[in-house]
Amino acid sequence: MYTQSLDIPSPAEGVPDPTALPLDELARSAAFNERAGSGEIVEAKDWMPPAYRKTLIRQISQHAHSEIVGMLPEGNWVTRAPSLKRKTILLAKIQDEGGHGLYLYAAAETLGVSRDELQAALHSGKAKYSSIFNYPTLTWADIGVVGWLVDGAAIINQVPLCRCSYGPYARAMVRICREESFHQRQGFDSLLAMMQGTPAQRAMVQDAVNRWWWPVLMMFGPHDKDSQNSELSTKWGIKRISNDDLRQQFVDAAMAQSEVLGVSFPDPHLQWNAARGHYDFGPIDWAEFWNVVNGHGPCNRERLQARVAAWEEGEWVRAAASAYAAKHPAPARAAA
Ligand SMILES: [Fe+2]
Ligand SMILES: [Fe+2]
Repeated sequence: MYTQSLDIPSPAEGVPDPTALPLDELARSAAFNERAGSGEIVEAKDWMPPAYRKTLIRQISQHAHSEIVGMLPEGNWVTRAPSLKRKTILLAKIQDEGGHGLYLYAAAETLGVSRDELQAALHSGKAKYSSIFNYPTLTWADIGVVGWLVDGAAIINQVPLCRCSYGPYARAMVRICREESFHQRQGFDSLLAMMQGTPAQRAMVQDAVNRWWWPVLMMFGPHDKDSQNSELSTKWGIKRISNDDLRQQFVDAAMAQSEVLGVSFPDPHLQWNAARGHYDFGPIDWAEFWNVVNGHGPCNRERLQARVAAWEEGEWVRAAASAYAAKHPAPARAAA
């Protein structure tokens, strides 16, 4: 779902150097940049510069990891949802997120990396996922706010990816964005019901909004001037809109929705700027952002432990599926 830290390389990896190629490859690479930047779609079998491939593997896999780690804070609430209706909605949403992870792992595999390698990178802590999922979901209102604001931010981040230069990623994003719209609306609907309830329910919603607002703004990543990979990603047609522009688009949309809901955001600097035609907002605490990205958020350890445990406990399922596949080769695969 969530592209916040997707253009943040891991410390050992650094920023790809597109000039580190032999001369003939440089010319090929320049021609590729021209095509990808002008809107041409790149497919899995096409030649691509190694740095483009590496950037996509990192971005798509971080995106996939974010989808499946994002299931964890919501999974905590399936047994505590306040009605059967909310329980079935939440289950459907969590199932969607698992599906998003699968589409994205499949898209990453087209670039020549195996799913096992990607999972191993997640479990060792080498690969990143969106830091928003390292915050806890303390009350039922948090689940509504995750849908409204976290999925809402994800949609704004991800709609431009439906037009990104890598075909398998762009096509996966079309379906994902449709499902994210449902996620955002179910969150808003759940909060609206609570806001029409008791004073205690309204206070619970406002408290959840207060805790999630700033981490959600961080989902759009560092300011453009501090975003290491943005320039290259833009040149290659992977990134279409800058982090700051996407963040502004989100703030403007969220302000309008907050009025319908009757909640406020915890920022005294939030006000309409008629000259810019946008809402101004206060400074983001980037120290907190980097702290969480680097593994020191409230739930980093818990999330990773849960993923590793799920992987280990699922070993027998993978073994059974492999044994079945060995006994019953698929006709299409056998023919190929
Ligand atoms: Fe998702
Ligand atoms: Fe979602």
